[in-house]
Amino acid sequence: MRSMYDLIAAKRDGGILSEGEIREMIRGYTCGEIPDYQMSAMLMAICLRGMDGAETAALTDAMLHSGDVVDLTEFGHLSADKHSTGGVGDKTTFIVAPMAAVLGCKTAKMSGRGLGHTGGTIDKLEAIPGYRTALAEVEFREQVRRIGVSVIGATGEIAPADKMLYALRDVTATVDSLPLIASSIMSKKLAAGTAAIVLDVTVGSGAFMKTDEDARALARAMVDIGVRAGRRTAAVITDMDQPLGRTVGNALELEEVLTFLSGDDTGLEDLREVSLTLAAYMASAVHGYSPEEGYRLAERAWRCGAVYEKFVEWITEQGGDRRWLTDPGRRAEAAYRRTVVCASDGYVGRMHAEQIGLCAMQLGAGRRTKDDAIDFLAGIRLLKKVGEPVRAGEALAVLYTSREVLLDAAEERFLGAITVTEQKPDARPHVFDVIA
Ligand code: URA
Repeated sequence: MRSMYDLIAAKRDGGILSEGEIREMIRGYTCGEIPDYQMSAMLMAICLRGMDGAETAALTDAMLHSGDVVDLTEFGHLSADKHSTGGVGDKTTFIVAPMAAVLGCKTAKMSGRGLGHTGGTIDKLEAIPGYRTALAEVEFREQVRRIGVSVIGATGEIAPADKMLYALRDVTATVDSLPLIASSIMSKKLAAGTAAIVLDVTVGSGAFMKTDEDARALARAMVDIGVRAGRRTAAVITDMDQPLGRTVGNALELEEVLTFLSGDDTGLEDLREVSLTLAAYMASAVHGYSPEEGYRLAERAWRCGAVYEKFVEWITEQGGDRRWLTDPGRRAEAAYRRTVVCASDGYVGRMHAEQIGLCAMQLGAGRRTKDDAIDFLAGIRLLKKVGEPVRAGEALAVLYTSREVLLDAAEERFLGAITVTEQKPDARPHVFDVIA
């Protein structure tokens, strides 16, 4: 067996590491035998030289087996999960999870928190009074068995090697590597145990992947890992060049989900298209329907109110306050708001999603560091989106926060994220492609 020094040198020179070497390296790093400085050098060598499919699969497998693996075998081929590579205003889990459950999938999902410009599902769920994000594994499984859906926070026992490596990548400029991103995401998804995995690979200014080419490459790498691990895996490539839907921020996004689930999708074509497509591919992976048939069934379940009912059942089953869901009068509003107006006539030509995510964070909706507290009521309501006409003096958005002092800087950032053009911009598709 080559030493860690030899492995670093081999990767630096463009060599291939064997499955056994990768497994041993991850074991050694996780138990403290391999120091951070050697692992940092290896991560940089991987960043510069890449990894082939077999190496990426081996790295994923080693990280996946560094901790607990959730046992969902009792659900056979019915268990399913969806995962987004991150975005701004991305609230699809709240729609797709109950939708897939109505379509007969056993949706057992572990989610994370937001950091930086992207939001996190667990933070959003905590905006609902009473919702329990930490269930014991037996309780989690029991709920999935009974009602078909549960979403909980990922525990520290899931892929701990990834947690350690991610922290190291974060401070050594080695996050940005396709095999490292693909293996990091997929190790957690595979450890979460579902038979089917549908990935939402976002692309654009608010996403990890800024170009179509990079998004496709990441999607292909993750689908390859999933298939090698024997899971039915599909990746849907979706637009994140502007925020999804018309709200950014925890409670605001849930309010939009409730509006959508009650059947009103006015101005929410992007949210509808992406959510129905993800649910269609989950149903397709689980039941073998064609994606078109899955889409038709998902749309029917949404329009007849079954998905709304399932959403309320799921949230209340996990302790969430039913009255908060069903009575808008019970929901608190942020103490301060500011309407942001447009300076000129034209069309919204561009909304820089990352900057809008950072603006929401600045208002209190997200975290700068992992120890920051969240203001659940803070965020942004977008009154205009790309391609819509605007007039000078017309409102573009409303900013919400519990701290008035934050409004000026947030308004400045928001205005800097918007480009007004004379010409109407070409429409971008909401769903670019599917890799299955
Ligand atoms: N999300 C992850 O979980 N890991 C990465 O490396 C990048 C995004």
